[in-house]
Amino acid sequence: MTAAEISERVAQLKQERNAVILVHNYQIPEVQDLADYLGDSLGLSQQAAETDAEVIVFCGVHFMAQTAKLICPEKTVLMPEPGAGCPMADMVTAEALVDFKAEHPGAPVVTYVNSTAEVKAESDICCTSANSVRVVESLDVERIIFVPDHFLGTWTQAQVPDTEFILWGGFCPTHARITPELVAEARAKYPDAAFVCHPECRPEVTAIADAVLSTGGMVKFARETQTREVILGTEEGIAYRLKQENPDKEFYTLPGITCPNMKMTTAEKVLASLEQMQYPIEIEPEVSGRARSAVERMLALG
Ligand code: 13P
Ligand code: SF4
Repeated sequence: MTAAEISERVAQLKQERNAVILVHNYQIPEVQDLADYLGDSLGLSQQAAETDAEVIVFCGVHFMAQTAKLICPEKTVLMPEPGAGCPMADMVTAEALVDFKAEHPGAPVVTYVNSTAEVKAESDICCTSANSVRVVESLDVERIIFVPDHFLGTWTQAQVPDTEFILWGGFCPTHARITPELVAEARAKYPDAAFVCHPECRPEVTAIADAVLSTGGMVKFARETQTREVILGTEEGIAYRLKQENPDKEFYTLPGITCPNMKMTTAEKVLASLEQMQYPIEIEPEVSGRARSAVERMLALG
């Protein structure tokens, strides 16, 4: 089937099923082109909460689709490629978090959405890279536990210096590959370009960035900046969207900064997902109630 035929059939099925397609900014171009809404983790959660559709086809990684299901338990949430996970989300388990809480009694747990529903269920509130500062400030406490991302936690702590962060040791293997040397090479090649990076990057990288932003923040930055060239310290998939929306600007990715899980979903799999209603996300009721509270507490902040 050609891309046009897939797109036509997907449109037909969306109507029949009353479905909406939510797509993360790192997805491959052919999947981004099928999106009803394209965004970052926070924006996608907000869209899931607001949609009237009965079916959500979620193109991203597992924790994102699971978060949509937590917010909309009555809807069918489908993942076209259920094998697309997030290695960072698997770096903390609910059991380990329970032990960690026992070692630090009284400290509320702030959990990055890049985590399993079981871990969210042991948390007080969730955050994304777009709202981590706001979430921690909203707690107004002396110290917090922050899981699983050590680098997002380190960056957020620097913005909220009066709060002590007890950090877990997780990280994103993709963003961890971004080094100051890689950035220096790109800056030497494109001396007029701004350098923006994701807060999942190492502290020595966020320290040399012109701005530290979620992927949604990068979309806004690209639109508003007077700079015509931008080096992207994040997963390369976002460059497609940025160029589509800002054809007069140049976006440079860093070599080898790809998340294999974000590349697993294809247009064919989106079509198969709608045709066969596959693969639905299910969450244990015992876990989902408590996990939902942590996500909803975050969403209530706006
Ligand atoms: P955003 O919420 O900024 O899109 O980030 C999600 C993610 O997985 C980054 O690696
Ligand atoms: Fe997870 Fe990193 Fe991939 Fe984002 S880029 S989904 S944090 S592995």
